[in-house]
Amino acid sequence: MLDKDIAKVLVSEEEIDAIAKRLGKELTAEYKDKFPIVVGLLKGCVPFMGKLITEMDMHLELGFMDVSSYHGGIESSGDIKITKDLDIPVQGRHVIIAEDIVDTGRTIRVVMDLMLYRGAASVSVVTLLDKPAGRVVSLDPEYIGVTIPKEFVVGYGLDYEEKYRNLPYVGVLKPEVYGSK
Ligand code: IMP
Repeated sequence: MLDKDIAKVLVSEEEIDAIAKRLGKELTAEYKDKFPIVVGLLKGCVPFMGKLITEMDMHLELGFMDVSSYHGGIESSGDIKITKDLDIPVQGRHVIIAEDIVDTGRTIRVVMDLMLYRGAASVSVVTLLDKPAGRVVSLDPEYIGVTIPKEFVVGYGLDYEEKYRNLPYVGVLKPEVYGSK
């Protein structure tokens, strides 16, 4: 049913599986003795973070934050709000921020700065998708699944007006879906 709204698949389910395996291995090699906190940014992190952590063969702690910058549409507002804060102290801990996509970089920048301000020993970013052409603040995620062009995408956690997060792949919506609101 959801497939009919998708113009093209950008990252398939098989590709996402391979990405999670690759990044899980890299993170395991780097963090296996560090008991890191993997901080997911809700709600978009859910599918990818869920898959990624099962590929990390090590002890880790999970945390979540809800930081919103979009207000249901397709343009970032630039106005970042923390609507749910992390409930674990990060002082002296290694933090891995897990995201679905880095676009302008504003959301991650705010969260990274907050973690460092609170005394995290280190902060890195793992993201399924990177859209470097959208960047307005300087930010280079350490662990990137795949780099995509400056296009609005949905699926695997990414939404358009809260819908399509449960698509098992990342795709581009047909233009008429925006028009039919
Ligand atoms: P940034 O602060 O601009 O980097 O935006 C990060 C957040 O914007 C992501 O966590 C998404 O929620 C949202 N976002 C950015 N690009 C897209 C997109 O192409 N589709 C859906 N959401 C997006």
